[in-house]
Amino acid sequence: MRKLYVFDTTLRDGEQSLGITLNVHEKIEVAKQLVKLGVDVIEAGFPASSPGDLESVRTLARELKGVIVCGLSRAVEHDIDSCAESLREAEYPRIHTGIAVSPVHMAQKLKLSPDQVLEASVAAVKHAKKYVGDVEFYAEDAFRSELTFLAKVLEKVIEAGATVVNIPDTVGYATPWEYAEMVTYVMNHVGNIGRAVLSIHCHNDLGMATANSLAGIMAGAGQVEGTINGIGERAGNTSLEEVIMAIYTQRSRYGIDTGVNTREISATSRLVSRITGVPVPAHKAIVGSNAFMHASGIHQDGVLKERTTYEIINPEVVGVPKNRIVLSARSGRHAFRHRLLELGYNMEQERLETLYQGFLQLADQKGEIFDQDLHAFVGGSVSEENNISIKQISVTTAGASSATATITLELDGDTMTDAACGNGPVDAVIRAIDRLVGEPVTLEDYTLQSVSRGKEALGEATVKVRCDDGGLVVGRGISTDVIEASARAYVNALVKVKKMADQIDRPAGDIITDEVTVFTRQ
Ligand code: KIV
Ligand code: ZN
Repeated sequence: MRKLYVFDTTLRDGEQSLGITLNVHEKIEVAKQLVKLGVDVIEAGFPASSPGDLESVRTLARELKGVIVCGLSRAVEHDIDSCAESLREAEYPRIHTGIAVSPVHMAQKLKLSPDQVLEASVAAVKHAKKYVGDVEFYAEDAFRSELTFLAKVLEKVIEAGATVVNIPDTVGYATPWEYAEMVTYVMNHVGNIGRAVLSIHCHNDLGMATANSLAGIMAGAGQVEGTINGIGERAGNTSLEEVIMAIYTQRSRYGIDTGVNTREISATSRLVSRITGVPVPAHKAIVGSNAFMHASGIHQDGVLKERTTYEIINPEVVGVPKNRIVLSARSGRHAFRHRLLELGYNMEQERLETLYQGFLQLADQKGEIFDQDLHAFVGGSVSEENNISIKQISVTTAGASSATATITLELDGDTMTDAACGNGPVDAVIRAIDRLVGEPVTLEDYTLQSVSRGKEALGEATVKVRCDDGGLVVGRGISTDVIEASARAYVNALVKVKKMADQIDRPAGDIITDEVTVFTRQ
């Protein structure tokens, strides 16, 4: 079987599009999970885009082992130099450089002639080769390019030393048969294509990114690029989990295999959703909460008789364990630990004990604890003390829209109380927190959703706050009380903003190691 290389760009094409700023700690958490998942390449960022991005890529390059760490650059020397600088400590560094090759991009965006683009492409690859052996070249908007020109550029960059050539459908315009035709054309018309891996990179503007990627793989591509949960520019990138599972379910048809550990898919999806604040739709293929639910009587009857009647994937294969035990306040440490292990959380004894105590409090409030509750609880629980914690919240409302909140916080060791009026309870709580913390941020987005089912369900609040420097930071909080969940989410975001501000004053390369807020009210 051929090997399909899996190139993850969640932290570059995914993050860049959301406008959110993930801190280094969050990026490392995602990247380490991607290593567990078994991707071959992690595109860690675009180092020339900001000093923060360069530092993040540098840290990931230093921390990650057993995986290719890649940085993106335009076909300009300064970008390539930044990439090389950030990748210096990587075990397996790759520079991903390139330029647009479609007529509209060359004429309107770059204002360059095709000959100038060809020259810049070759120069970029040669420059990158001075630093690393592994150089990937991207021909941006390849799908809308003239194929003869595309083939000429690819041939020249391979001659210059490119080890991988990437032919993106940058605007998500292709259909599967057209994308396959382009791959076939490249395979047949680029004389030296055998010396490089052909990579595909699709966007989902017409909802065909996964189908186009699979068509490209069938036509001979050796590397697929995409993101977890399909996050990315506009309608997103190819969902890697969809491509991986499409191949897994029909390996012999594709004649190719990935080295991915499919059992890590579910955990990776949840982590990316939690950290980016981008929810996964319930009906999303492979990772949606309904992806393995059978609702209609006929389907339930069929699945009970023989699972494969309506299930093409055994949920355990993607890391969704069978739901045999529902935990409650009567569950002992053993059952708690066992379920966490089944859900993919392996932690040391001390942390487990802290979590168990929090779990008992939660179970007292909530009664039954489902897997979704555990994911939310463990995913948001504290690993270290933070400089802001919520001590008490009380809210009074008068009519539908007017509310007063009084809140007590512990801030850098001092206990402080303040109150504010607002347009509803959540607004009042946020204003009261603002009065106490005084961080100059603007609330841009607020969502509240139920974690599991039933009237005792946990509420999960996600906020996005815009900082002074224009960056967006995500905060998340859970509680059986939705006002408290909202306050926790907001405080969680403020903790991150404060730590990012501190980081700017620190020496380069210092990692922020904690980003979550204290979740148990004391
Ligand atoms: O979509 C695209 O063309 C890209 C390139 C920069 C690789 O993301
Ligand atoms: Zn892209």
